[in-house]
Amino acid sequence: MNKVLSNKEFSSPDDSAVVRNDTTKRKQEDKGLQESRCHLEQGVTKRTSQLENANKKKRTVKLKAAYDELKELEAQKDIFISIIIHELQTPLTSIKGFSQLLMDNSIAKIDTKTRHYLDIINRNSERMYHLIRDLIDSTKINLGQIKMFSTNVNVYSIFNEIKEIMEEIFNDKKIIPVFHIENDLPNINADPGRVIYILKNLLMNAVQATESGGTVTLKIYKNGKCVQFEVQDTGIGISEENQKYIFKRFYQVKYPLTKQFTGPGLGLSICNGLLELMNGVIWFESAPGKGSKFYFTLPIEVNVKHP
Ligand SMILES: Nc1ncnc2c1ncn2[C@@H]1O[C@H](COP(=O)(O)OP(=O)(O)O)[C@@H](O)[C@H]1O
Ligand SMILES: [Mg+2]
Repeated sequence: MNKVLSNKEFSSPDDSAVVRNDTTKRKQEDKGLQESRCHLEQGVTKRTSQLENANKKKRTVKLKAAYDELKELEAQKDIFISIIIHELQTPLTSIKGFSQLLMDNSIAKIDTKTRHYLDIINRNSERMYHLIRDLIDSTKINLGQIKMFSTNVNVYSIFNEIKEIMEEIFNDKKIIPVFHIENDLPNINADPGRVIYILKNLLMNAVQATESGGTVTLKIYKNGKCVQFEVQDTGIGISEENQKYIFKRFYQVKYPLTKQFTGPGLGLSICNGLLELMNGVIWFESAPGKGSKFYFTLPIEVNVKHP
């Protein structure tokens, strides 16, 4: 009977050595292959990161160039605005001056109708004058050309002056004013004209935001090494979305149903710029329908002895 031999039975000791040799060789080849793949992967990772870095650098250079260009354009725009403003200032001064002169009865007798028209010219040129002043200040702050006259300022004289300026405005709009100033406040180091400007802008904003019968409060008190000013209203408030942009130049909140705010949207950005230059800080809290509270600080004068 024929015996069918299995493969195992066929293979001789020599055959198994060949097989073992083959396996070892394959294993070595696999290892080599794995090593070179690993090497390749490392190379790819290294090169990718080099390329990413190079791209990042290129992007940064490009971004910086775009930013510089934008800054340059912004500066050119401000220079252009200041040229136009100066051209507008001369005729405006004439309009304002001559309309006031005509209203003075000693120059010529004027009837009620003419007086009414002259009054309109006068009020509008006054508004334009303030707009021009704001534009000049705003461009100067942006160009770093504003001059401050910081000195030793008595806070009580500021308080009395702003109270007097605002009295008629509060009366006209039937707003209830609340004034409070702490006793024995030290002097501050600031430019008094600029402090009045900041207070007037905040108080005018508060008046514009508030309906007749509402309250606007001004408080002044000491806070650490500063004197803190607080202007609060019970008015319309500012939404969270608008709060982010309120200190931006020309930013005006759009109130669809009311026409409360009529200015160019420069006041708060100027206040912010002026306070930075006087080492002060401005911030606020507000909620729609609940009113707003604006705060700013100014440093206490250190060159004089305080009680
Ligand atoms: N107290 C406030 N309550 C509600 N909205 C305010 C208040 N103060 C400022 N705003 C909003 O911020 C905008 C910018 O104010 P501001 O920079 O003072 O502009 P402007 O120069 O026109 O007075 C205003 O148009 C108004 O919408
Ligand atoms: Mg304002």
